[in-house]
Amino acid sequence: MTTPLRTVVCLAATAFFCSGAWSQPAQDFGRSEYQSSCASCHGAGGKGDGPVRAFLTQPPSDLTTLARRYGGALPTQYLWEMIDGRGSKVIGPHGTREMPIWGEQYGMPALAKSDSAGQAEWYVRGRIVALIDYLQRIQVK
Ligand code: HEC
Repeated sequence: MTTPLRTVVCLAATAFFCSGAWSQPAQDFGRSEYQSSCASCHGAGGKGDGPVRAFLTQPPSDLTTLARRYGGALPTQYLWEMIDGRGSKVIGPHGTREMPIWGEQYGMPALAKSDSAGQAEWYVRGRIVALIDYLQRIQVK
């Protein structure tokens, strides 16, 4: 290979790897988690206007104003506990601690049943992190 050709190939490869197509995840995991587990109540855009709202005694919170309402930063610890069920009171907005409306998706029972508890734990954590990352991205400025 001649030197100029090598340079062209090298530049093309660099352009490819640095392009948006390469760096963007093919699927927005946090967004799909949100849409499947939270949007029915909190709304597709997080404003608290999901279709199930009409059947609830308390309106679902606007999740786009969390940072603003909790002192300027997303309250990640609080969110983590809400999502994995620890934040549920006797019967909180998401059901009981034992049975939040999203079931075992983000909790310990799912881990206990797994063959490889360590691996499953990281999988569950990954889902929660993706969800919190998504909530971060929908915050109003
Ligand atoms: C069955 C309906 C329903 C679903 C599904 C649901 N929520 Fe909620 N959520 C509520 C309601 C109702 C409230 C407000 C209750 C209150 O004010 O005590 C709430 C409150 C919250 C709060 C507290 C907000 C604040 O202002 O302090 C957070 C955080 C939250 N939900 C996150 C989630 C996440 C994340 C999901 C998806 C994993 C989810 N919710 C799914 C009904 C739901």
